[in-house]
Amino acid sequence: MAKRLIRSRRHPRVVRKLPELKRAIAALRAQRTKKQKKTIALVATMGALHEGHFSLIRLARRRADAVVVSIFVNPAQFAANEDFGSYPRTLTADLAALAVLNVDLVWAPAAEIMYPEGFASRVVPEGPARAGLEDAFRPHFFTGVATVVLKLLIQCEPDITIFGEKDFQQLKVITQLARDLDLKTRIIGAPIVREPDGLARSSRNVYLSPSERRIAPALFRVLRECAARIAVGRPLATVLNEGRKAIAHAGFKLDYLEARRADTLAPVTSLGDGPLRLLVAARIGNTRLIDNVAV
Ligand code: PAJ
Repeated sequence: MAKRLIRSRRHPRVVRKLPELKRAIAALRAQRTKKQKKTIALVATMGALHEGHFSLIRLARRRADAVVVSIFVNPAQFAANEDFGSYPRTLTADLAALAVLNVDLVWAPAAEIMYPEGFASRVVPEGPARAGLEDAFRPHFFTGVATVVLKLLIQCEPDITIFGEKDFQQLKVITQLARDLDLKTRIIGAPIVREPDGLARSSRNVYLSPSERRIAPALFRVLRECAARIAVGRPLATVLNEGRKAIAHAGFKLDYLEARRADTLAPVTSLGDGPLRLLVAARIGNTRLIDNVAV
């Protein structure tokens, strides 16, 4: 019995070339349910999958008939001094997890398939991609993300596409991209999955040494405290300044701690400009962590 159960959880089909992907997508769509074509959800990832990714995949399962997961560590969104080379790559474990989650198809192209010799086009997003948050510290980042996500959407043709609120600015950039370019897919945001101590799950958490890992939850703790104080009417600037100090005091090098409008990421001066979102990025040792909370 147990043996049969294990055997029934086959690895999902992994495709690595575009013509094969197109055929597999067409086959998924063609399977009719109640005379309607199947709907397809895409969850785009860079692999090293964890509970955060799994929650997106479970949401995709509930919202669509078939689920496609892309795994592609996108070189275009890393700067030369960033961690592209050391980014965790755990394909075997990823596929085993995706089997349990009943994923229909995994799109895992090589870099040469995504960016063949002579590749010369880029999507340069503005609006939320110029909010002065991640873009101020990773100027190349959203061009790389928007370019690869647009390609993934064209390649996979999903009806819905799920992104995590963990990367809140990224979610806004992709939502704007889909609206501006009349993409047919619906972009859906999913809540942040955290460790029991509050640290947001991230593929990069494996970089943390034991002592850094003990400090890391301070980021969420400070965010939550700041959000609570802002919600009861304390002055925004004071709360943020104290929050910045608390993050530095915990042992981080702060990139930013900002309050923004949750819909546009535009700057705000008071609670009345809301609904607000607090967003933070900070470095601990060689690891850069980001997080955010609603006020
Ligand atoms: P990656 O960091 O692998 O994240 C893939 C998706 O998982 C993103 O939508 C991200 O927001 C979501 N995610 C990660 N950690 C999460 C958490 N703790 N809770 C909820 N969602 C979480 O983001 C990327 O890859 C890339 O930029 C990509 C969009 C794939 C383009 O290359």
